[in-house]
Amino acid sequence: MTNAAFTIRPFRDSDADALCRLHVAAILATSDEHYTELQRKSWASGKKPESYIRIAREEETYLVAVDANDQPLGFCSFADAEIKGLYVRPAAQRRGIGTALMRRAEAALIRQGATEIVVHSGLPAVSFYQACGYAVVSRSLHRTHDGEELQTVRLGKHISE
Ligand SMILES: CC(C)(COP(=O)(O)OP(=O)(O)OC[C@H]1O[C@@H](n2cnc3c(N)ncnc32)[C@H](O)[C@@H]1OP(=O)(O)O)[C@@H](O)C(=O)NCCC(=O)NCCS
Repeated sequence: MTNAAFTIRPFRDSDADALCRLHVAAILATSDEHYTELQRKSWASGKKPESYIRIAREEETYLVAVDANDQPLGFCSFADAEIKGLYVRPAAQRRGIGTALMRRAEAALIRQGATEIVVHSGLPAVSFYQACGYAVVSRSLHRTHDGEELQTVRLGKHISE
């Protein structure tokens, strides 16, 4: 899929460093309206480039939005009728990249047979997912690997025939 300023393509191992950096930057740039700075730092901690390569090989499909120089602007990962991660570089947000990644991920999940797609979201992205047609299913707490508790929301979307 091509938009005036970005293209979406499959993940390559050489994306791992850039994806790790943009993932951390996207988390740290979220508003302090939802999580404290300590909570955001905890959510962003422990990310390692090699994990993206391993997860993309073994567990999840990654799609990457890139600019005209093939530099990653955002990514979406998904598996088993679930959106697992969606992050857009702060300077590239509100340009439709997140929506375009979701559409591509949803189309792939539907081809795999999904009739309902779910996502476990942090609070900063709930409005985004609602704009994509998802409804809140439940609320829960997520404990980061270094022990901070974050309020999170599970959302779902039924796929019509
Ligand atoms: C959530 C995220 C992926 C959205 O990506 P994006 O490329 O900025 O999204 P889009 O430009 O496609 O936004 C589509 C619509 O979603 C809604 N939306 C997006 N970001 C929003 C925000 N911060 N607050 C309220 N609504 C928002 C708006 O309705 C927007 O349409 P508009 O720009 O015409 O008003 C991006 O903001 C991000 O990386 N956030 C930080 C990380 C995160 O929370 N990821 C989800 C982890 S579960």
